Amino acid sequence: MIRIENINKTFIVGAHVVKAIDNVSHEVSKGQVVVVRGPSGSGKSTLLRCINQSETNSSGKIFIDSIDRKRKGVNINKIRAEVGMVFQS
Ligand SMILES: Nc1ncnc2c1ncn2[C@@H]1O[C@H](COP(=O)(O)OP(=O)(O)O)[C@@H](O)[C@H]1O
Ligand SMILES: [Mg+2]
Repeated sequence: MIRIENINKTFIVGAHVVKAIDNVSHEVSKGQVVVVRGPSGSGKSTLLRCINQSETNSSGKIFIDSIDRKRKGVNINKIRAEVGMVFQS
C-alpha cells in the first residue's frame, strides 16, 4: 500500500518558484495497477521520486505499508529495494 497525503513539491529556479506537485493525495492498494499520466512537465517523475525519496516533498506525507516514510529510523534503502523505477532516459 502506498498512501500520499497532500503532497506539495516546489523547486526554486533562479528567481522563480516552480510548483511541480500541487496538493496531490492518493492511495494505491497492494496489487493495484495505476497509471499516472499528464503532459510533459506536469510532475509525474517528481511524484515518483518523492515516493522513493530521491526528492524530498516540500510538504505532505507519504506512507508505504502504513509506515511514514520520513519517520526517524525508517530504512529508506529497504523501501527502495522494493520500489523499482525505470525512467524514460
Ligand atoms: N530538479 C529540478 N529542478 C528544478 N525544476 C524541476 C526539477 N525537476 C523537475 N522540475 C520542474 O518540475 C516540473 C515537473 O517536472 P517533472 O516531474 O519532470 O514532470 P513530468 O515527469 O510530468 O514530465 C517541471 O516544471 C520541471 O521543470
Ligand atoms: Mg517524467
